[in-house]
Amino acid sequence: MTEQREQWGSKIGFILAAAGSAIGLGNIWKFPYIVGQNGGAAFIIIYLICTAVIGLPVLIGEILIGRTTQRNPVGAFKQLSKTKFWAAVGSMGILAGFIILSYYAVVAGWALGYIFEAFTGNFFDFSEPTQAGDHFGLLTGNVYWIIGFFALFMILTMGVVFAGVQKGIERGSKVLMPILFLLLIILMIRGITLPGSEVGISFILKPDWSVVNAQTVLLALGQAFFTLSMGMGAMLTYGSYMSKKDSIPSSALQITVLDTSIALIAGIAIFTSVFATGLDPNAGPGLIFHTLPVVFTKMPGGFIFSIFFFILLTIAAITSAISLLEVITAYFVDERKWRRHKAVIIFGTIVFLIGIPSALSFNLMSDFHLFNLNFFDFMDFIASNILLPLGGLLMSIFIGYIWGMDKVLKELKFGAEKLFDRYPLLVKFWQVFIKYFAPVFIFLVLLQSTGILDTLISIFE
Ligand code: TRP
Repeated sequence: MTEQREQWGSKIGFILAAAGSAIGLGNIWKFPYIVGQNGGAAFIIIYLICTAVIGLPVLIGEILIGRTTQRNPVGAFKQLSKTKFWAAVGSMGILAGFIILSYYAVVAGWALGYIFEAFTGNFFDFSEPTQAGDHFGLLTGNVYWIIGFFALFMILTMGVVFAGVQKGIERGSKVLMPILFLLLIILMIRGITLPGSEVGISFILKPDWSVVNAQTVLLALGQAFFTLSMGMGAMLTYGSYMSKKDSIPSSALQITVLDTSIALIAGIAIFTSVFATGLDPNAGPGLIFHTLPVVFTKMPGGFIFSIFFFILLTIAAITSAISLLEVITAYFVDERKWRRHKAVIIFGTIVFLIGIPSALSFNLMSDFHLFNLNFFDFMDFIASNILLPLGGLLMSIFIGYIWGMDKVLKELKFGAEKLFDRYPLLVKFWQVFIKYFAPVFIFLVLLQSTGILDTLISIFE
């Protein structure tokens, strides 16, 4: 079973693909809106802590499983453990891939649709900031608009995975993503210089701990996983193409720092603008679509700028979406011996069908609720806040207790010899985090959120 597997041409190949997966709507769309819904600075601080102490160590572990086994998530666990249980953990990742892509592509469809809105110059006809929100409501309220662009985005994503041109896209994003970064910096500067932006600044800098509860911690943890594309095997799959000459800890650190900075920059750009224009920080999934059009009208060259922005946002969403579809495809190709093309078409279509109720949550099905959430939020909750942390929990248990620490360290050392020689303490830290800290923390947060902990405590009271 030692067939030659394709590998990234260089370390930068892996970083580009992994960063392409990580950087996407999670940073620019989701981060600002959940910060807005959860009271600002306190949420950001918890998210940063989750990223540093859980996200980074588990990300290292996830990439390591991929590089060692050179398999898809299911194959990887099968190879290392030989038990059905751990293969099921891989399958849970495939399931999470279906769920996430199904609603992710709906939102990516909005970004795609907004390219056309930007072209028509629609934003510049608004006389009141709140009209941007009304316009968003009108667009997403239109079933044809929302399903149409959702379908178009799925077709684009399937086209890329189908043609196997990911590498081309990733090379291209080497040029495009720095431009997106630059645009975000400009938006941030525009936001900060708007009169009245101080309120936004204090919203993201001055924590109000009274709004924090167990649920907040779960959402922050889920966001840390979501934005780093971890917990379901996407990073594992990309790691499976990585060479043993390259350092996993340093790659993982670079991805984490890059991804987190982009989220923070987007957050500053949005909240300075939200408060300066008197909009509602608690607007939910529409937040950036309510806010950015207003900002574009307030900047020189806003027309061109807005077109570029939504094009780049759509491309960032594509490089993330292909990583989700790729996990599903790789599994059916490697483990079930499907033909690649057939797998892409069938599962792309299934993802589209699963996503339809999410798209309808903004119009026809807006009154339909499961556990107090509309279908779209429900799918996001299950995937981001349950399946991904659970995947991370199980991966850290696997690394800490099942795989064998000596084997783990031997594999991790490949490409990271310098780190092992010079900073043995960091390696020790990582062991402690992956073995004790991550599993215990994630477990408690998940337990708390399901209310089981409350019940137990009340029994002993
Ligand atoms: N991280 C991406 C974003 O922030 C979304 C994403 C891509 C993802 N692949 C994933 C999320 C795998 C969870 C798991 O937009």
